Amino acid sequence: MDWGMKNRLASIFNQKSGRTVMLAVDHGYFQGPTTGLKKPRETIGPLLPFCDSLFVTRGILRNCINPTTSTPIFLRVSGGPSVLGELSNEDITTSMKEALRLNAVGVGISIFVGEKNEERTIGNLGRLVNEAEEYGMPVLAITAVGKEMARDARYLGLASRMAAEIGAHIVKTYYCAEDFNKVVEGCPVPIVIAGGKKIPEKEALEMSYNAVSKGAAGVDMGRNIFQSENPAAMIRAVRAVVHENYTPDEAFELFNRLKDKKVVSQVVE
Ligand code: R5P
Repeated sequence: MDWGMKNRLASIFNQKSGRTVMLAVDHGYFQGPTTGLKKPRETIGPLLPFCDSLFVTRGILRNCINPTTSTPIFLRVSGGPSVLGELSNEDITTSMKEALRLNAVGVGISIFVGEKNEERTIGNLGRLVNEAEEYGMPVLAITAVGKEMARDARYLGLASRMAAEIGAHIVKTYYCAEDFNKVVEGCPVPIVIAGGKKIPEKEALEMSYNAVSKGAAGVDMGRNIFQSENPAAMIRAVRAVVHENYTPDEAFELFNRLKDKKVVSQVVE
């Protein structure tokens, strides 16, 4: 692996735990101003000190994130359809040159296995990896799951393995209660989990704990952090699980303690 690729990956994964807490705030690229992200600058700024990287589109990055931030930026580079359309109809929307100009440490793209545009989105991933390898840029493949698809180990394992075979350096997929370890075992690159729809904080911490216990390399979590009643307390509790092996009970206790203190970061970027 080339130095640039190694260095970028090292800035994403914590050197001590070997894991990562990515904060996903890219939802507007097909959902518009969704709950919790109606004012991106206000929501994201206080959370930046607590994430290992921010997963974001170039538009929100340029307009809402202070360029003095030291948080590594992971850029979503695919898109196209809105929530009103055929979601699998995605293309690459942001060039590698742009990712380099924005000083990204990685680029992310969705694939839609089993969906209408399966082949095209796999082709998009292949093209992105070809170009990214030239510049030492890690590619995160996101296994988007359509409404018709079961979020079980068989499906998630298929989609994750395909992403790795095509060349993704990291795969983002969903957690499944049964046989998630098999999803991880079948995928030769690190897996991070998306959080999915907002669930109670304790359950989101349990899901994070179970995922890392079964081999996930961390989370790329959005709604369960920024839609929490206290996003700063929640991301710190998730960090405690991912990096310090807190149990769900210990992490929930931490969340409640921080929440009651009404803790927010002192650093608003
Ligand atoms: C989809 O909008 C994106 O890939 C999100 O980044 C991903 O789903 C993670 O966000 P959440 O934890 O809210 O599912």
